[in-house]
Amino acid sequence: MSSYFSDMSRRSFLGCSAGALMATSFPFAHHSLAAASSPRRIILDCDTGVDDAIAILLALRSPELKVEAVTAVSGNVPLALTLPNTLRMVEIAARPDVPVAGGAALPLVRQLITASYVHGENGLGGAEFPEPKLKPLEEPAVQLIRRIVRSSPGEITIVGVGPLTNVALALKSDPPLASQIREIVVMGGSLTGGNITPSAEFNFYVDPEAARIVFDSGVPVTMVGLNVTQKVLIGEQQLSVLESAKTSVSQAAAKILRSTIDHIGKGRGITAKTMAMHDPLTVAHLIDPSILTLKDYYVQIETSGEFSAGESVAYEYPRARSSAPMNIGPAAPEVRAAEVKPNAKVAVGVDPDKFFNLLIPRLTAAS
Ligand code: BDR
Ligand code: CA
Repeated sequence: MSSYFSDMSRRSFLGCSAGALMATSFPFAHHSLAAASSPRRIILDCDTGVDDAIAILLALRSPELKVEAVTAVSGNVPLALTLPNTLRMVEIAARPDVPVAGGAALPLVRQLITASYVHGENGLGGAEFPEPKLKPLEEPAVQLIRRIVRSSPGEITIVGVGPLTNVALALKSDPPLASQIREIVVMGGSLTGGNITPSAEFNFYVDPEAARIVFDSGVPVTMVGLNVTQKVLIGEQQLSVLESAKTSVSQAAAKILRSTIDHIGKGRGITAKTMAMHDPLTVAHLIDPSILTLKDYYVQIETSGEFSAGESVAYEYPRARSSAPMNIGPAAPEVRAAEVKPNAKVAVGVDPDKFFNLLIPRLTAAS
């Protein structure tokens, strides 16, 4: 990756000017929710990762969700680190009942590009934790995803907050599975430009082919992209609340976040102040859908661009067209705009106060 793109991604991952702290109301109001009839059943697929770690803690501390499994994939750091990081978070949340499985070590067809410039060499911003005692299942993630979905057709939502390699492999290896998945909710893409290249968001950049399989699968997709996730910035106010609560979850979350914000700052030669909560926002949407505003779009994922692979090309209107054919070689058919139907609900608005009023009490509550 050129230094231009490294700088781009560092800047964008911070997601804000170094001085800007979120204006969030304090103390955090306890978030009240209408009692759900039954918890939403999810499989959480992560490349754990700093914000993935917080997303796992949030999911496991939320009675509105029943986490059937947490699966790990390569992304922010290689699988050899995302899998133990996932186990650590499940252990810290005191949820050994939740199965964890390891998945793909490499994207479908590309070399793995990681984001240790944000997440640190260990994926947790350099914050150190003991080796997890919890063990992963022997069953690989893709098989586990298929087994859980097939045992409860129409009930399982897959929440993908890393590169979508595991999810795409499950769909590719078992095409009828698509009709049995309730929904796929992804952190990825953007309506407003990328964070690792000017076009692409990191998760889709790492495995564009996998993202394309998911968006083309016919499964209802919700896309939570950078255009909203970069508006939920965690900073000093929230960190001091996490630190003053003495629970193991809040202490672990604060340790990871503080260490990461310092690490990002060192990499940029500045004092960083905040970090975007991409993945926790995606999980929060399933706990309280009023945090995000969604709109129907037809989303295509660019896979062939030399400089734009992983871009999410989103059409609001019902006609889409591909690039003009080359004017060399045999005459290609004329390109016309084609009628398309929305294939995704895309997050277009976010209420950051509502998000933090959900997240912080969930992380600080006594278990
Ligand atoms: C996404 O990329 C990862 O680095 C984060 O964990 C998040 O899922 C943001 O682009
Ligand atoms: Ca992630």
